Amino acid sequence: MVSGLILGLETSCDETAAALVTPDGVLKANIVASQADLHARYGGVVPEIASRRHLELVSPVIEETLAAGGATLDDVDAIAVTAGPGLIGALLVGLSAAKALAWSRGLPLIPVEHLHGHVASLYLQPTDLQPPFTCLLASGGHTLLLDVPDRGWEHVRILGRTLDDAAGEAFDKGARLLGLGYPGGAEIDRLAKHGDPEAFAFPVARLAGFDFSFSGLKTALLYTVRDLGPDATEERKADLAASYQHAIVRALSERVREAAGDGPIAIVGGVAANSALRAALPEAVAAPLALCTDNAAMIASAGRYSPRLSSPAFLGLDAHSQSL
Ligand code: KG4
Ligand code: ZN
Repeated sequence: MVSGLILGLETSCDETAAALVTPDGVLKANIVASQADLHARYGGVVPEIASRRHLELVSPVIEETLAAGGATLDDVDAIAVTAGPGLIGALLVGLSAAKALAWSRGLPLIPVEHLHGHVASLYLQPTDLQPPFTCLLASGGHTLLLDVPDRGWEHVRILGRTLDDAAGEAFDKGARLLGLGYPGGAEIDRLAKHGDPEAFAFPVARLAGFDFSFSGLKTALLYTVRDLGPDATEERKADLAASYQHAIVRALSERVREAAGDGPIAIVGGVAANSALRAALPEAVAAPLALCTDNAAMIASAGRYSPRLSSPAFLGLDAHSQSL
C-alpha cells in the first residue's frame, strides 16, 4: 500500500464525494454520491435538503472510498476539504467531518478552494498538465477565464468572468425551457446530437475584454419557444438544443482562444464535459470526463499544492459561501 495518501472531501453543492490521491498525483479511489435525483423534482438544488443528505452520506462515502483504494486511515497523511465557495450548510458538513477526522487522527487539514480544485483536476496522472496555461473554468456556479502560472492558487489571475449567468446555469435554464430534466447540460448535449446547430441564430454577447454574458441568450430562447408554441417547440426540440448549445460553445471557445493567444488552453468544470465544446477546442487539454463535474479527486489534487494546517489550529477554520 502507498502511504502518504491525501483523502479529499467535497460537499459544496449536491455531490457528496471522497477520493484518495497519492503525493505524485495517482488517483487511488474516487467515489461520488450524486443527489441529483433528490433535487430533480424541484428543478434545482434545494440547499437544506442538500445539507441533510450530505450528513447521511459523508461517513459511508469515506468508508467506501477507503475500501475502494484498499486503504485504511493509517495510510492517510492529510485531509483536504472544500472550504468554499458553495452552499454554506453543505460545505459545513464536509468541513466538520474533515476536522473531526483530522483531529482524531492527529493529521493536518488542507482547506481547498473549490475553483482551485477544478483547475487541479488537470494535475492528476495521466493528464499531469504543467502550467503555464489559460484555463476556461465553466461550471454551474462559475464561468471564469484564468491565467494559471503555477500549480498553487495564490498566483492565479482572473482574466474574465460572466457578468450574469454561469455557462452551466445557461445550459440548465435552457433545458428547463425545453422541458428537459435537471441537471440540463448533459441532456442538451445528448439531444443536440440530433439537431442542426444553424437552425436558429441565437445571439452571442460580445463584451469588452474577456467577460461573458449569457442572460440575453436565455431570453432569446424564451421568446423563440414562446413564438413557436408548444407543438412546434416539441417538434424542433433537437434543433433548439443544438442551436442554443452552439451559441454557448461559440462564446466560450472564441473568448478562451482570444485570451490564450498562442499559449496553451485548458478547460475544466462541468461544462467542460460538453461534447461540442470539446470538439470546438481540439487543441485544448480537457479535464477527464469523470473529473469535470464535482468530485473529491480534484480537491485532493489541489491539496497537494495548498498549505497544510496543523491540529488543533484548524479547528477555528470556517467555510465561506463566496469566492475569496
Ligand atoms: O462543476 P459542476 O459539477 O458544479 C459546479 O461547481 O457548479 O458543474 C455542473 C454544471 C451544471 O450546470 C451542468 O448542467 C453542467 O455542469 N454540465 C454540462 C454537461 N455536463 C454537466 N453542461 C454542458 N454539457 C454537458 N455535457
Ligand atoms: Zn464545481
